[in-house]
Amino acid sequence: MAKGKLRVGLIGSGDIARTQHLPYWRELEAEGRVQIVAVCDLIKERRETQASLCANAKPYADYAKMLSDQDFDIIDVCTQNRFHAPASIAGLKAGAHVLCEKPMAMSVKECQAMIKEAKSAKKKLMVAQHMRFEERAQKLKEVIESGKCGEIYTAETKWLRRRGIPGWGKFHIKKESQGGPLIDIGVHMMDLCIWLMGCPKPTAVSGKVYCKFGDRKDLFNADWGTPYPPAEFDVEDYATALVRFEKGITMQMQVSWAANINAEIEDMRILGDKGGVGINPLGFFSSDQSTLTSATWDWMSKEDGHRREIHHFLECVEKDKPVMVQPEQSLRIQQIIDGIYESSKKNKEIVIG
Ligand SMILES: NC(=O)c1ccc[n+]([C@@H]2O[C@H](COP(=O)([O-])OP(=O)(O)OC[C@H]3O[C@@H](n4cnc5c(N)ncnc54)[C@H](O)[C@@H]3O)[C@@H](O)[C@H]2O)c1
Repeated sequence: MAKGKLRVGLIGSGDIARTQHLPYWRELEAEGRVQIVAVCDLIKERRETQASLCANAKPYADYAKMLSDQDFDIIDVCTQNRFHAPASIAGLKAGAHVLCEKPMAMSVKECQAMIKEAKSAKKKLMVAQHMRFEERAQKLKEVIESGKCGEIYTAETKWLRRRGIPGWGKFHIKKESQGGPLIDIGVHMMDLCIWLMGCPKPTAVSGKVYCKFGDRKDLFNADWGTPYPPAEFDVEDYATALVRFEKGITMQMQVSWAANINAEIEDMRILGDKGGVGINPLGFFSSDQSTLTSATWDWMSKEDGHRREIHHFLECVEKDKPVMVQPEQSLRIQQIIDGIYESSKKNKEIVIG
């Protein structure tokens, strides 16, 4: 059981840290449960501004220096994907529990190295899959776990934007992020869907990725940040896949940052032999003898996921409880991702594991 205020350090203080991590750590600091003692970012203005918003945080440009300078109970990694594994491993080696933004890392090999380090350091490691923590996701999980859906046999999930390529960060550069919407929003949708299905083990994947928009100057949407040089874009802007799991379970997935569709679609359906659930509309769909039945909860919020996730991680550290997003589950998502890219390249189904 942890005692006193836990010492928190942030690595990366860009968009997601500024809007969805630091505000909640500061909330916990105000409650007297943590002290934010350090904020690290390569960009001076970012580390200094974010550190100045905390009661007593020192800004750092180099996370190795930060980790050797002070003791930490918790490290929160919010850099672009390329640094998720090295910064998390450094945090674990320094004796801290680590919360790391999604995706877990850039490859299966990196995920395995992170898990190995967490095990040998005996520290918690959790990937920030905030969608699991949303009220709507918790409701669907409760319905599925009550047995009302019966045997889950298939699912489909999609998040398609008409014009929504992120212009900030390094999302469009392969060596910084590994990929495009598959990594950005596909990771969220697949993690949520597979968790709702009860975390079946993936066995094979067939996928295809496309790049039809990202390097076209004329299609940039100012609502999504400032334009990057189009020639930098070397990731996909559309991905589709069929994933096979043990016991014959399947999942279809489609994601895009840009597609010629009417409007943005965010959808998920999980089907069982007694009932099915979905997020759009949010509900449970079944039948009672000859009558079709539906229950919907569309008023439920999806706004609070990040806040609940950070509160959950702190509580797991304080009370030594298991984290809700087990790193082995995040490794399986990475196996699917690597499989989709390999399948796309080789034009064939890839066996996982
Ligand atoms: N959970 C979500 O809904 C969600 C949403 C957006 C982004 N993300 C994830 O958050 C991460 C960051 O995304 P973002 O939008 O904040 O990007 P960003 O570019 O705004 O922020 C990343 C920050 O990390 C800093 N950084 C990079 N390398 C560093 C290093 N070695 N040491 C210290 N600082 C370093 C950069 O200078 C930058 O300020 C990505 O992995 C992304 O996938 C998650």
